[in-house]
Amino acid sequence: MSTVGKAGLEDVVVSTTDICYIDGREGRLIYRGYDVDDLAAHSTFEEVVYLLWHGVLPSKKEYETFYKALSASTNRKLPPKLITILHALPKKTTPMEVLRTGVSALSAWDPDAADNSREASVRKAMRLTAQMPTLVAAWERIRRGKAPLAPNPKLSLSANFLYMMSGKKPTDLAVKTFDVALILHADHEFNASTFAARVTAATLSDMHSAITSAIGALKGPLHGGANEQVMLMVDKIKDPAKAEAWIRKAIADKMRLMGFGHRVYRVEDPRAKHLRRLATELGRQVGDESKVQILNTVARVVTEEKHIYPNVDLFSGAGYAAMGIATDQFTPIFAMSRVAGWAAHVLEQHGNNRLIRPRGEYTGPTRATYVPISQR
Ligand code: ACO
Repeated sequence: MSTVGKAGLEDVVVSTTDICYIDGREGRLIYRGYDVDDLAAHSTFEEVVYLLWHGVLPSKKEYETFYKALSASTNRKLPPKLITILHALPKKTTPMEVLRTGVSALSAWDPDAADNSREASVRKAMRLTAQMPTLVAAWERIRRGKAPLAPNPKLSLSANFLYMMSGKKPTDLAVKTFDVALILHADHEFNASTFAARVTAATLSDMHSAITSAIGALKGPLHGGANEQVMLMVDKIKDPAKAEAWIRKAIADKMRLMGFGHRVYRVEDPRAKHLRRLATELGRQVGDESKVQILNTVARVVTEEKHIYPNVDLFSGAGYAAMGIATDQFTPIFAMSRVAGWAAHVLEQHGNNRLIRPRGEYTGPTRATYVPISQR
């Protein structure tokens, strides 16, 4: 009799964890005991990173020290030779390919690369969290034929990223929206990319290798890549008046509806409501409400007809688009936030490690007779 569990490891619990809890029936997401609704309302991305890595909220002094380190140019800037590598890449290289390549390359310059102690891994996580926005923004400018901008240590991670992308001072609403989006994406229990990070860490490999594995897993359209696919759908629909007919046809054609459904949530993803509200406010500010109108119609019809609900990827892109960010940068932005969670899981895995090595149930032949190539 087969001992194989449900396909895709559905409902398989692979480990205990103190980092993140998802209540899929109530639609609640908890980081280290704190509801993301509260963190989205009151916290900052920097504070959430501290919470995920250290398990508790920082005191004022701890926060200031941590914030300063995460913002320091020494941690944010890229090695000049990495910029040279970026210039050598074909301009058509996608931002996720660049991020995967860049993060892997960064270990070559990291002074702690070979040290897997908790202290060194926290330092590496700090540098990666600080460097990834610089890397994403540098590629955006290089592929447009512009020079990358130096990070500004006086700006928060969110404000600095938006500044490095466009060269302009972002609006307060854009910074707030972006920061909340980063808070909401920072961790999500044993999702595919986090599991990839933990599998890599469990071989006693290092932080950069684990984060590179995670970026590769996040890239796929069933995971982080869905936010790009949602915006491609919005671009196809174009006119809010056409959204209902378009989505009804997509349902009739049995298309996979990007931005809907989830392995764990049986109700609407708790992150979606925040992103919907922020995308609506930003759309209003920039005078383009059509994207959110299209998504609202799509969400209503899909929920009524299919009883599957919006996930985190449905509304995030509409907010980023209102900030003038290119669609293929949405998944790298997801990674810029999720690196906080990935790193927390690598630290937890290294803190109580056992190699992750499952079995497969073999269903092929077992007694094939070898025939020399000359006789085949
Ligand atoms: N569109 C159409 N049908 C869907 C969708 C969807 N988005 N999601 C689930 N279903 C249907 C499936 O067709 C299937 O129906 P069936 O039983 O009649 O065949 C049933 O619901 C179960 O679907 P699975 O794909 O087996 O569910 P699973 O738990 O493996 O998938 C997933 C979860 C991959 C997220 C899925 O809902 C999906 O493909 N969504 C679209 C992509 C997406 O938005 N991904 C982002 C998820 S959030 C994140 O990773 C950040």
